[in-house]
Amino acid sequence: MTPQRVTVADLRAMKRRGERIVMLTAYDYPTARLIDEAGIPAILVGDSLGNTILGYETTIPVTLEQMLHHTKAVTRATRRALVIADMPFLTFQISPEEALRNAGRLIQEGGAHAVKLEGGGPIVETVSRLVRAGIPVMGHLGLTPQAVHTLGRFRLQARTADAVRQLFADAIALERAGAFAIVLELVPAPVARAVSQLLEIPTIGIGAGPGCDGQVQVLTDLLHLLPGPLPRHARAYTDLATIVSDAIRRYAEDVRSGTFPSESESFGLPRELDLDTVAAIAAEFAAQRGGDEHAPLPDDR
Ligand code: KIV
Repeated sequence: MTPQRVTVADLRAMKRRGERIVMLTAYDYPTARLIDEAGIPAILVGDSLGNTILGYETTIPVTLEQMLHHTKAVTRATRRALVIADMPFLTFQISPEEALRNAGRLIQEGGAHAVKLEGGGPIVETVSRLVRAGIPVMGHLGLTPQAVHTLGRFRLQARTADAVRQLFADAIALERAGAFAIVLELVPAPVARAVSQLLEIPTIGIGAGPGCDGQVQVLTDLLHLLPGPLPRHARAYTDLATIVSDAIRRYAEDVRSGTFPSESESFGLPRELDLDTVAAIAAEFAAQRGGDEHAPLPDDR
């Protein structure tokens, strides 16, 4: 039986029940399938795609076409999780109409069930436009990585009373505009807790402490797939960088030493062919090459 797809209403009900919401990013078919099969209710196809998978320094170069490509792979892999696709830089800021067209593509072509937009005040009207068109929207406040060039660097947000006030105002405005949840990134834990307590919609934290209604991690951090230090707020549950490097090194050793492939990893001759026939064909071709040297025999190795 096909499991029932998680809906945005389910996430809100989880908040009401005090059940913490688990969200993870995914960008491809195999990991999305594993996440879905693990029963994770929400998957974010984040534009962190840019720095985690595509090798860019920031999320700024990520295009709508790239998001579509990866969103399609993720949605093909999932049967139960709600899939939220990030709207990349400049696909939703120009006008509500353009945002609607682009969000529509992520839903219609990409198969996503919702979209996520970074920012507060200036995009509230756009959020409302998408919601009225039937597109569920997740907000994203605190550190908004698409604003990297304005922020200068990635660091804790909501550091002053004014900034905390702005965060509260933006969160309430997004809720009123119809957002079904809000990601809070790099916000002091007590501030994130207070915002979460005030809102009816769930908050999903990343670097925002345990008082949020749910947590999201970037999958490559959780798996420690990229070598190097992790951000302070991330927790690695394995060390795939080491595991994968070790597997690649051992494979190379086996090829070089001739122990890969083994007999059981190779195929012998089928019944309708024998070694003498293969040797005769090899000799025929060796003669055609003009060489009188010994034709390689199939069992030479
Ligand atoms: O793009 C992303 O992965 C995100 C998460 C950090 C929330 O926006």
